[in-house]
Amino acid sequence: MGLTALCPGTFDPVTNGHVDIIRRASACFDAVIVAVLENPGKAPLFAVEDRVSMLKEAVSDLEGVQVESFSGLLVNYARSKDPDVVVVKGIRAVSDFDFELKMAQMNNHLTGVDTFFLPTSPQWSFISSSLIKEVVRFGGDIAGMVPPHVEERLRETLSTGKD
Ligand code: PNS
Repeated sequence: MGLTALCPGTFDPVTNGHVDIIRRASACFDAVIVAVLENPGKAPLFAVEDRVSMLKEAVSDLEGVQVESFSGLLVNYARSKDPDVVVVKGIRAVSDFDFELKMAQMNNHLTGVDTFFLPTSPQWSFISSSLIKEVVRFGGDIAGMVPPHVEERLRETLSTGKD
């Protein structure tokens, strides 16, 4: 049996950087599960159902990619999905690596699940969901940094002051 890649995140909302990592993971692994953390602690802008539906639309052209939500520990969710699962994370910069390395080591210590790091493509390395939201809040242009349907949802949501 082949390996399944689990791409976890908050995805509040999905950006083109996330889509790039999911696309490249789908070219390397037999299947990909995109796992959206419910994460009420981070007070996300979008409800988990909305984050999942925006992601589903963003990766609809990719075969073998499923999008699901989860809560609790990633490794418990990973084990419940597939014994041959590995976590795949994008690394934008050395500053990401610092924390991602600790999470990867903790996840491996807890259950033996391994993490593969993919370097973010340079054209997306400055993008984060937080920065995207800030730019929209202050009226800036985010065209080309998120899928068009996500741009539309951001404008609708943030222009009503619902953040
Ligand atoms: O997009 P994010 O917010 O950087 O993603 C972080 C995420 C969701 C991958 C991470 O916070 C996570 O796995 N959370 C689930 C809870 C968990 O397993 N915590 C222990 C990590 S060692």
